[in-house]
Amino acid sequence: MSATATGIVGAGIERADGVDKVTGAARYSFERRFPDLAYVVPVQSTIARGRVVRVESERALAESGVLAVLDASCAPRLERPEGTHPELLVLQSDRVAYRGQIVAAVVATTLDAAREAAGLVEIEYEAEPHDVILRADHPGLYVPENANAGVPGAWSDGDVAPALARAAVIVDETYTTAIEHHNPMEPHAATAVWEHDGLTLHNADQGPYMTAVAVAGLFGLRPEQVRVVSEYVGGGFGSKATMSRPPAVLAAMAARVLGRPVKIALTRQQLFALISYRPPSIQRVRLGAAADGRLVAIDHEAITQTSRIHEYVDQIGASTRVVYAAPCRRVVHRVVRLDVPTPGFMRGPGHASGMFALEVAVDELAARLGIDPIALRIANDTAVEPYSGREFSSRSLVECLQTGAERFGWMTRGAGSDGADAPRREGRHLIGTGVAAAHHPDYRFGSTARARALPDGRFAVEIAASDIGTGARTALLQVAADALGVDPDRVALTIGHSASGQAMMAGGSMGTSSWSWPVDMACRELARRLGARADAGEAIPPEGIEVRADSAEAVQAAGSLARHTFGAHFAEVAVDARTGEVRVRRMLGVFAAGTIVNARTARSQFYGGMIMAHGQALLERGEIDPADGDFVVHDLASYHVPANADIGHLEVVMLDERDRSGHPVGVKGIGELAMMGGAAAIANALSQAVGHRFRDVPIRIEDVRSALRRQ
Ligand code: MOS
Repeated sequence: MSATATGIVGAGIERADGVDKVTGAARYSFERRFPDLAYVVPVQSTIARGRVVRVESERALAESGVLAVLDASCAPRLERPEGTHPELLVLQSDRVAYRGQIVAAVVATTLDAAREAAGLVEIEYEAEPHDVILRADHPGLYVPENANAGVPGAWSDGDVAPALARAAVIVDETYTTAIEHHNPMEPHAATAVWEHDGLTLHNADQGPYMTAVAVAGLFGLRPEQVRVVSEYVGGGFGSKATMSRPPAVLAAMAARVLGRPVKIALTRQQLFALISYRPPSIQRVRLGAAADGRLVAIDHEAITQTSRIHEYVDQIGASTRVVYAAPCRRVVHRVVRLDVPTPGFMRGPGHASGMFALEVAVDELAARLGIDPIALRIANDTAVEPYSGREFSSRSLVECLQTGAERFGWMTRGAGSDGADAPRREGRHLIGTGVAAAHHPDYRFGSTARARALPDGRFAVEIAASDIGTGARTALLQVAADALGVDPDRVALTIGHSASGQAMMAGGSMGTSSWSWPVDMACRELARRLGARADAGEAIPPEGIEVRADSAEAVQAAGSLARHTFGAHFAEVAVDARTGEVRVRRMLGVFAAGTIVNARTARSQFYGGMIMAHGQALLERGEIDPADGDFVVHDLASYHVPANADIGHLEVVMLDERDRSGHPVGVKGIGELAMMGGAAAIANALSQAVGHRFRDVPIRIEDVRSALRRQ
């Protein structure tokens, strides 16, 4: 790991909040107590499309403890500043855009009473025929102008069709990925408290400042009138970006109507329709190569879905524009509006689906060429970002592949893939190994931070960051201590308060890279001023000395190199030839993402991403029932995520990478990279083991069994 002169940045120190978390001293949003607290429980629509004609609340209101029933006819009107996400406009219309949408809400003095009464609200609907299933031939498919994160809806460089026609070898296959649901350990919760000058929102939130801005806009307030507090968050994956999700808005609305603090706490079941999800995809990937393995054309067409009320398009082809060189490249997204909840950001939005398809296609190409899949990837490495021609600030894909090959024992696997070499057999198990590249862009946004020197020799550092379990709190403490040149226990770090000032959210893997920049700036400037004062013999005044920093200009000025992170996943699977049971025996992930601020928390985040890739490859499958438009599974009993017993041996290697992009600490994002491509490595291993190409995830036991039967 890169370690600085003081050795604090790069050290694997223990989590700063570890003891508070395990002893319960850390207060999560749900655990905030207030006198006079009431609870709001949403009533969700039972039709997928139509209109609410009547809300009968008499029975609910008759229950003891029930204070109010809100619906679109009586809920306060919200403002709609430009850019407001329509999912935030809760109870503003009688239209029903999807099954599970909030159509009413019950407020009561206890959570149990509110839940009970929510079941007594009778809603009369005027239902219309709904359309909830994504298909490749859906007549409503269109090419959007942009996918998420500003990735073009359609983009090409060169003419792929003739290039493919001339290629010595081509792969032309269709891959699919299923809906995935976020299931953070902490379900979404918020407490809203209106005070004379505004609103305080204790919220499970990835970005307190951005939420303050969004919520202020809805209620016609100035951003500083909304104080979002989000000190501890039990996971998020993109679902706790409150600028796009309604639970906290509903709490704020109910608190305003009732004139008392109101808490919302979604149940696990309610999360499925209310907090976004990874949309399904149908992807056609065409790769053309010369006999030596050099790609001559890459074509990636991705089909996905959005809701009626908002155009969210997963940037499925985004990685395909970056990972490999080829003279001709084309990426097209097509999307259809269905009567479904709006999909949204979920760890590596777009990239997770796209890298699955691309990296399986590359494996297929290797097999058809008879070239080792690692050699094939290395042969198509690129020194410049293919779509822009810009140099990379750092790019260590080849090192990741090579380091991983050696560490994993790849050479023992033999060259080629499907059919090229017979799968290994150990007793009743078929053994396969697979590899895939990992890629995610490296983003960062200008943010603000404050650092204050106190007369007792301690330092107070503050930034509106959010640690959703990543270790950001600990990493920022290390960055601050390093910049101040002091031991971390002399630094008191406050995060999770929007009042600390503008800051990026914990999203797009840009939390720590965005936040560490102004923390470093503020702390270095403070150390400089303290040094000057000490030289002049001046003591620190009783009120302390404060420095505020805003990294916006520095981030802007930091040059125009292409910024991305890369890695390589390796997987070994064992398939029971009689039952089709799949075990992922071991996974190795090798990643390069600039300076790793904390090797311990980073390793843990990489493990999490690899486990989530295991879920994508083999387990996680959201499905919509065409008959009623509902998600078929609503709980963790039937929506399967990998549990401890599913996971074999995991190993993470973090390469020491020096990034040239001007970041003062050299930080690049890691959270999403950890997962990207991992599902392809597992699928490729499984394809080799079974001798059948799997192109649809999750690969279920029945898929494996039917492939085995065809042997
Ligand atoms: Mo992440 S999906 O950018 O919160």
